[in-house]
Amino acid sequence: MEAFRIKGGNKLQGTVHISGAKNAAVAIIPASILIDGTCRIENLPNIQDVNYILEILQKMGSVVNRIDDNTIEINNTGINTYKATDEIVQRMRASYYLVGALLGRFKRAEVCLPGGCNFGERPIDLHVKGFQMMGAEVNVSDTFEAHAQRLIGTSIYLDQVSVGATMNIMIGAVLAEGVTTIENAAKEPHIVDVANFLNSMGADIKGAGTDTIKIRGVSGLHGGTYSLIPDQIEVGTFMMAAVITGGDVTVENVIPKHMEAIVAKLIEMGAQVIENDESIRVIGPEYIKHTNVKTMPYPGFPTDLQPLIVSLLTVGVGTSIVNENVWENRFQYVDELRKMGANIIVTGRTAVIQGVPGLDGSKVRATDLRAGAAMVISSLAAKGETIVYDIKYIDRGYEFFEDKLKSLGADIQRVNI
Ligand code: UD1
Repeated sequence: MEAFRIKGGNKLQGTVHISGAKNAAVAIIPASILIDGTCRIENLPNIQDVNYILEILQKMGSVVNRIDDNTIEINNTGINTYKATDEIVQRMRASYYLVGALLGRFKRAEVCLPGGCNFGERPIDLHVKGFQMMGAEVNVSDTFEAHAQRLIGTSIYLDQVSVGATMNIMIGAVLAEGVTTIENAAKEPHIVDVANFLNSMGADIKGAGTDTIKIRGVSGLHGGTYSLIPDQIEVGTFMMAAVITGGDVTVENVIPKHMEAIVAKLIEMGAQVIENDESIRVIGPEYIKHTNVKTMPYPGFPTDLQPLIVSLLTVGVGTSIVNENVWENRFQYVDELRKMGANIIVTGRTAVIQGVPGLDGSKVRATDLRAGAAMVISSLAAKGETIVYDIKYIDRGYEFFEDKLKSLGADIQRVNI
């Protein structure tokens, strides 16, 4: 089993380049099923989840040509099945986007139920409701099945803000008849990116990034070239790594607007943050001040950075409270931080963190992707050596993670244990 061996204590210094957005990539690749022609995707992160989704499509008849680490050309004209039932489909959450894409193209989809990180219950009722309102018959058992004679645009109100449902309905509506309106839509940067991608291939989507998205159905999409936005969560990860180590890191290939909620918190915690057009410099404070955090849909503080900010607060001065408002069970990792000496009490969706003067090296597990990143940044600040097990989760979403950290001066090795 692969693990990271990390010796803590080095202040991170230097410049790091951010990769393309994972959550945009894992939607754009399935969405490309709608396209008649070759599409070139640039700034694609070379991560396990992207490789999984490409493998799924290839097994369905897609032709993928890897130009370099971060560029592919993909042609899906050869896909002639509406079924995605390979075992890999169950490994990742984003495979539900195959439903919207296959339904859009073939008016029929049968896709294994998605897996991905376990933060408690991960319902798909809003996806189902959206497709039903557009005229599809949907049946969810071991697979997510949907079929329709005609997919017809309508107005769909999402009872809860959902990234997945917004994107899936948007993808499904691109080739539908008439206008589909999604109300109470999610506004995350990767939703705008997927809309921009589809529009650049001939779709007619307006309002992505606001809570009302209008998709006017078109008769077909053509090929083209698209470059992904930088990964907001990876940016946040390196900003927080700078803060917890008291370092000085410039994070490049950033859209600073996407980072407002995170920048505001880090400043509150005593960090210096200097924003430029496409980079952010973060200088860690002498000591981290306590604060309270509530996770929210964008533009609020992202749930995916919750485990990382908790890591910072474990070594802050005073008591902090973190409320998890998106997922019902996203504090499973705190047991691992406790092994390093963190003082955290969790009640339901609230964590109370009493800062301690320092963490100690230990043996911990990555319980999921972002919790894994939290273990790594905690280890960078801890005294002595930490082994982080189960780094397969981290590889799902971070490109060249240990290489990037090493280039900033971290003492981190990938080892076989
Ligand atoms: C995506 C991200 C994930 C991130 C999450 C919130 C991907 C692959 N994953 O997950 O990293 O943590 O957004 O930013 O992009 N819900 C329902 N019914 C539904 C769908 C969702 O009730 O049909 C609820 C969920 O239980 C959750 C909330 O809505 O409480 C948000 O979920 P959603 O935004 O859909 O998350 P994902 O798209 O699965």
